[in-house]
Amino acid sequence: GLGIGSLLKETGYVTLDPGFVNTASCASAITYIDGDAGILRYRGYPIEELAEHSSFIEVCYLLIYGELPTAEQLGSFWEKVSQHTMLHEDFKSFFSGFPRDAHPMAVLASAVGALSTFYQDSLDPFDPEQVDISSIRLISKLPTIAAYAYKTSIGQPLLYPDNSLGYTENFLRMTFGVPTQPYEIDPEIARVLDMLFILHADHEQNCSTSTVRLVGSSQANLFSSISAGVNALWGPLHGGANQAVLEMLQNIHDSGDDVDTFVRRVKAKEPGLKLMGFGHRVYRNYDPRATVVKQATRKVLDRLGRPDPLLDVAMRLEEVALSDDYFVERKLYPNVDFYTGVIYKALGFPTNAFTVLFALGRLPGWIAQWREMMSDSTTKIGRPRQVYVGPPERSYVEVAER
Ligand code: ACO
Repeated sequence: GLGIGSLLKETGYVTLDPGFVNTASCASAITYIDGDAGILRYRGYPIEELAEHSSFIEVCYLLIYGELPTAEQLGSFWEKVSQHTMLHEDFKSFFSGFPRDAHPMAVLASAVGALSTFYQDSLDPFDPEQVDISSIRLISKLPTIAAYAYKTSIGQPLLYPDNSLGYTENFLRMTFGVPTQPYEIDPEIARVLDMLFILHADHEQNCSTSTVRLVGSSQANLFSSISAGVNALWGPLHGGANQAVLEMLQNIHDSGDDVDTFVRRVKAKEPGLKLMGFGHRVYRNYDPRATVVKQATRKVLDRLGRPDPLLDVAMRLEEVALSDDYFVERKLYPNVDFYTGVIYKALGFPTNAFTVLFALGRLPGWIAQWREMMSDSTTKIGRPRQVYVGPPERSYVEVAER
């Protein structure tokens, strides 16, 4: 008569798996990765096809609702998203309240958490309508939050969203436009950024997504769960790698472009030194997203007429690493972060905003994974076990006697 939870507890077995290298935390129908073959699919669709043909908003729909939308479904989804882009006027005080030089990921995480103070009418994780409007609000408002954080950091006035523009165009205008001049959007450039958002949109149970699920498993609301995910993404071993890659490329360039010496130091495992943007827990092959980004990088630099020596450094690094036994034996290949920074830099984003762009892209994946978990009746609160290695029982000793 016992349920599965009680039966599992009865076995008394505990597995120790640091970093969850071999432990699945859930069953999921959203994203498929074959790390050996370098395959990534959202809801069955190859990432390369989505990157080429789809739009970020369509991919949001696909991830969250499970199917590509009909024209009508896409139209009504976009109508909702484009209606919720504004932030409450009182919300603006957050941006001016933080130090000007605050890291934008800290601002983003705080602002997303703060959404639950403004939308108390939609915090019930089990009410489908409330979850739906919270999802829409997040997708609509994250670009506005990201752009406002940037504008505040450089002391420029905030621009209201222009809902006649597409998702990525609107974000670019709020970020780089100024109120006194019309902002010219190059559709090709907007398309590349939109495509980068698609490439980042989900990646199954990575650190930030697992965080979103773990927080959500306590039945915390969607905003709180996503805010935790933003914080998890910030770290340099995860989304923060795109900032770290650009800093690494810049350091190599500034020190005289000596790629071989840098790689030698990495191989010698100098403390704190890694080839950032290389390696992945799941991919033992070229990250399929990195292939697409690499192709786009050259296109963007050519289009903008802004050649960047850091791209040459990156390409030489890749060449050296891929023919070096250390990297070959360990199956370390470029991941999605290796080339994105060069594009973001060319578009005019400051280095510390790169991980924010990752967060904008990853948002629909976090939402879809959280919703999948919440609607699964077998979901239990996430509560890993441990293997205790501390002292055995001992008696308290008064301070004077220690
Ligand atoms: N540079 C140098 N050596 C590396 C690198 C690297 N980037 N990545 C892994 N290695 C080495 C490790 O030192 C280890 O060597 P060892 O067998 O001699 O001990 C071996 O390769 C295996 O690496 P692990 O750290 O065990 O692999 P893990 O799966 O735990 O880590 C991670 C994966 C975090 C991505 C790691 O490869 C890394 O730190 N890469 C650099 C940071 C990065 O680019 N992160 C972005 C990941 S993608 C994303 O989140 C979008």
